Amino acid sequence: MDGGGRMSIVIAIDGPAGTGKSTVSREVARRLGMAYLDTGATYRVGALYCLREGVNLNHQDDVTAMLATMNVQMKLDPANPRVVLDDEDVTHLLHTDSISLVVSTVATNLDARAVLRAVQRDLIEGTRAANGVVAEGRDITSVVAPDAEVRVLLTADEEVRLARRAGDGADLATIREAVLGRDAKDSTVVQFHKAADGVVEIDTSDLTIEEVVTAIVKLAEEAQA
Ligand code: DC
Repeated sequence: MDGGGRMSIVIAIDGPAGTGKSTVSREVARRLGMAYLDTGATYRVGALYCLREGVNLNHQDDVTAMLATMNVQMKLDPANPRVVLDDEDVTHLLHTDSISLVVSTVATNLDARAVLRAVQRDLIEGTRAANGVVAEGRDITSVVAPDAEVRVLLTADEEVRLARRAGDGADLATIREAVLGRDAKDSTVVQFHKAADGVVEIDTSDLTIEEVVTAIVKLAEEAQA
């Protein structure tokens, strides 16, 4: 199966920051020869687009209307995922502070979520005829693709999540606010700390990336069998 697999399934992976979700999701997709969709990137590029167009992110209706006109392409190669906005590759801008600090305002706008959810579902459906997709986010197992063949919720103890983020450089107080503050805000519209019915929860606190990847690949192989 390694590399050249033919798995026309959807693997949905949810969880908060600091669970290793992105690293794990990309690696699972790479190993199984599947597409990789980071749904968080749709919220991030949505925020970037609105800011560029001068839309106040607190004006919910304006944000929703603007997102409906967004011309975005997501390249789903797990070896090199890219986000292209109006023919410009904006991938490198999406994880800067100027976006990370405001993206929750878009993610907690329910009408904006509906617009972006349609984009996400189109992308997922578009992979069905090929090798399927690993889609990661907060509400993929519960809302975006509840019919996914494999549904996983990654969790980790709060202190472990913070320490993993601290490994990226910033000080703990800043990280605490960035991670927990954003989680708290996002939790007002999506439940991503508790597994929905039929979702396999994997507590990654004491696991390596490799162990988590192996566990999900096994679930995929069982689902395909
Ligand atoms: O995973 P991330 O940090 O790139 O996500 C960016 C923002 O979008 C964050 O506020 C969580 C939110 N999000 C969401 O509400 N639903 C998703 N499916 C994915 C991300």
